[in-house]
Amino acid sequence: MSQSSEYAHVTFVVMGASGDLAKKKTFPCLYRNFCHGDFPNGQVSILGFARSKLSTEDLHKKMKETIKEPQDPSEKQKYDEFFKLVEYVRAENGYDHPESYATLEKEMSKREENIGDAKGKECLRVLYVALPPSSFEDAAKNIKQACWNTEKVNRVIIEKPFGRDTKSARELAKTLTGLYNKADLFLVDHYLGKEIAKQILAFRFGESSTALGGMFSRNSVEYVAVQFKETFGAEGRGGYFDQFGIVRDVMENHLMEFICFATMEQPTALTPEGLSEARINLLKSVATIKPEDVVVGQYGAGKGDKKAYREDETVQDDSKASTFAAAVLYINNDRWSDVPFYLMAGKALDEDRVELTLHFKDNQKSLFSLPEAHVKFFAKDLKLPHNSLTFRDKPAEEVVLATSTKQHGGYAFELAPTELKLDLKSTRSGDKDKDYDPQSYEFLFKAAMENDQTWFVDMKEAEVQWHVWEDVVTQVEQVVEPVMYEYGSKGPKEADDLLAKHVQRRR
Ligand code: NDP
Ligand code: BG6
Repeated sequence: MSQSSEYAHVTFVVMGASGDLAKKKTFPCLYRNFCHGDFPNGQVSILGFARSKLSTEDLHKKMKETIKEPQDPSEKQKYDEFFKLVEYVRAENGYDHPESYATLEKEMSKREENIGDAKGKECLRVLYVALPPSSFEDAAKNIKQACWNTEKVNRVIIEKPFGRDTKSARELAKTLTGLYNKADLFLVDHYLGKEIAKQILAFRFGESSTALGGMFSRNSVEYVAVQFKETFGAEGRGGYFDQFGIVRDVMENHLMEFICFATMEQPTALTPEGLSEARINLLKSVATIKPEDVVVGQYGAGKGDKKAYREDETVQDDSKASTFAAAVLYINNDRWSDVPFYLMAGKALDEDRVELTLHFKDNQKSLFSLPEAHVKFFAKDLKLPHNSLTFRDKPAEEVVLATSTKQHGGYAFELAPTELKLDLKSTRSGDKDKDYDPQSYEFLFKAAMENDQTWFVDMKEAEVQWHVWEDVVTQVEQVVEPVMYEYGSKGPKEADDLLAKHVQRRR
């Protein structure tokens, strides 16, 4: 294991380079890494690897759809330098065939040999597997066989979801741990790298924990809502999405990571072991979600040219994959028992929103008549007390305490809803480096290149996450016919009924 920040050569391989993730996040973040100087010292090669028949120019063209050419001449120079580092290597025989990896190995070695007077220093290889999970095991085996060079420093990064259910997660864990040392294997869930996830930890276990930490328990909280809403669908991603659906795509991993940070006990330390132990302990207390506590939906056509999920050419005509799901889970421990956690995730909805909200109990003995507010995710016109704490990722990174104060001025003593927003940006120090705001993948790629596992997933955790969703992924997702909702709408109204049922049960 090397912690060096200086190598003769650094190769970063993006497997699945023709895909959605590569275009939307991976290449743009690698570009930001490059501009910010996050690559270790040494010559750098970035190799896009996929089956599609593309040339390097084709790949650059795709990348330029999301990495826009800067106007500033000095930035333009960096932009041109970056594209010179990126080349395409075709996995001509597919991800399950050793020949594809032999080609990749040859291309990597060729670049590593050409290092001039840096001979004697080590070479770093980071192989990032951003493929549909059905290809993870093939890729992992072939990488180890063909591209793992013991004379170099090798690291492999694998994307979520880790398996499709408990059984396949165990099999994947067995394969991966049989092939790789824990220190060389980075399991990525980019929600762990998000700024707002870390803000939850800062809020709960930092300065405010003595005064405000107590809010995080059944004594104060009526229910917790976690929302993931996107305005776009799964266009062109059927090769992956159709086999997995929204529950496996974001709920069992991303949303669970947010829930863990908001509900777990204080970790023993801010280390990979400390954090994953705290999350695993929490996950073990989460009850398996009951199929009757889940609603699944799929988007149909919307206004204008918005096509139904099933109309996408990469999707099966009769697909039952869910693009929307709502579920209620319970944590069986002293801190959280009986508090419903309402999770909702959907594509092709009316807004982009990702947030976790603790909705506090009403004050039954209030002197005043309490104001109510619309709760944003309801398709129906439901109102609830305006009394909550939200950690928001989208549309903006925010921590917001919603409460009520006396209506300012006037003769009457009435309460009105108001919000206390923590000004996250006010913490800026003026120091360019300290204030730099990396995107989640940018942060995680830098961490992997520096061999820091703190914000990655432990294989054991990946396995435990599935027990929560086991009945949903085996008895509901792709089994039950999803409720249809319109592209661009608030989603199926059945999802609201689910929450109302659980919240009323507790009242
Ligand atoms: P895509 O559907 O875009 O697939 C990525 C690439 O994999 C495709 O370009 C294609 O490349 C190849 N591929 C597609 N279907 C198959 C298949 N059935 N078998 C083998 N190869 C296939 O998926 P994404 O890029 O969206 O997702 C890839 C991984 O990244 C997933 O694990 C996902 O969970 C994760 N992820 C995605 C995010 C996103 O925003 N898209 C964000 C975070 C994580 P080719 O045919 O050229 O080989
Ligand atoms: C990915 C999912 O893991 O996360 C995508 O595969 C989803 O379906 C994406 O769009 C959302 O990430 P973010 O960072 O934009 O919220």
